[in-house]
Amino acid sequence: MSKYFGARAAVVDLDLKIPAGLCFAMLGPNGAGKTTGLRMIYGAARPSAGSVRVFGLDVARNPRAVRARLGVTLQENVLIEELSPVENLRVFGRYHRLPEKRLGARVEELIDWLDLRSHAEVPVAALSGGFQRRLAIALSLVNRPELLLLDEPTTGLDPAARQLLWARIRELRAAGTSIVLTTHYMEEAERLCDRVAILARGRCVCEGAPRELIAERLPREAVEVDCSAQDERRWFTAPGSPDRRIRTGERLIVYAERAAEVIERIRRSDGGELRPLVARPTNLEDVFLDATGTVLRESG
Ligand SMILES: Nc1ncnc2c1ncn2[C@@H]1O[C@H](COP(=O)(O)OP(=O)(O)O)[C@@H](O)[C@H]1O
Ligand SMILES: [Mg+2]
Repeated sequence: MSKYFGARAAVVDLDLKIPAGLCFAMLGPNGAGKTTGLRMIYGAARPSAGSVRVFGLDVARNPRAVRARLGVTLQENVLIEELSPVENLRVFGRYHRLPEKRLGARVEELIDWLDLRSHAEVPVAALSGGFQRRLAIALSLVNRPELLLLDEPTTGLDPAARQLLWARIRELRAAGTSIVLTTHYMEEAERLCDRVAILARGRCVCEGAPRELIAERLPREAVEVDCSAQDERRWFTAPGSPDRRIRTGERLIVYAERAAEVIERIRRSDGGELRPLVARPTNLEDVFLDATGTVLRESG
């Protein structure tokens, strides 16, 4: 599917099959097209070309049937500010036509599950960003959705709140809920998701299981070091030098099966002295770099 806003292409030829029962991430920097992609999945944006099927149904033709089985947490929280978390949950439950008795039990359950008990009766306007985010996610779960869509669920959260959400997302998945989330944190996707699609400028640059993408595209380890272009040439002229290298300003990343060999090569050509460097396993951010040739940075 594609989505254009006037002449601007937000999503171009996105063709994804998202398997049920898994956690799937749409990844990419700001402006990559993640939100637009997600909005097309739940029918809030109509594709300019192509179509979307959810639960085997064409979303454009069956918006209500699809949405009844969906939960969505938007990038910006949609909450009634003057009402408390409990009241927000009740309003949303009535919208979904939950019978009062079941609704009461469900609200209590969600308040505890997302750790909202201490502020359950406080107006939303007085809650911290972390509480509001957790409440927004609680709202999307009121109707026990089969598919949960989360647009940047953890952006701006402190580490403890992020850990809680990760744990909850894992629990949902273990209980059989399908999850599609967006994030610009590659690490988050690597930890949480079975499969990812990396978007850049509206296009999908690669798709697959994080471990597989990393293993298919790059050697196992990376060495990061600040150096000049002359340093780089001096270190890596000898035969057998690692040829998978990417430079962003002063920082050079060298990919190799064994980081220790790269470090030893650098140390030897520097006359035995070792400069500060970092050795680490190759990760999803490296895959993004490799696929787009650009550095992932928050912008705009
Ligand atoms: N309603 C809109 N009108 C015009 N341009 C839009 C609209 N929504 C998104 N865009 C543009 O589409 C591109 C993708 O946006 P978006 O899907 O929000 O990206 P992301 O969620 O990955 O940050 C951006 O260039 C953005 O400015
Ligand atoms: Mg977005």
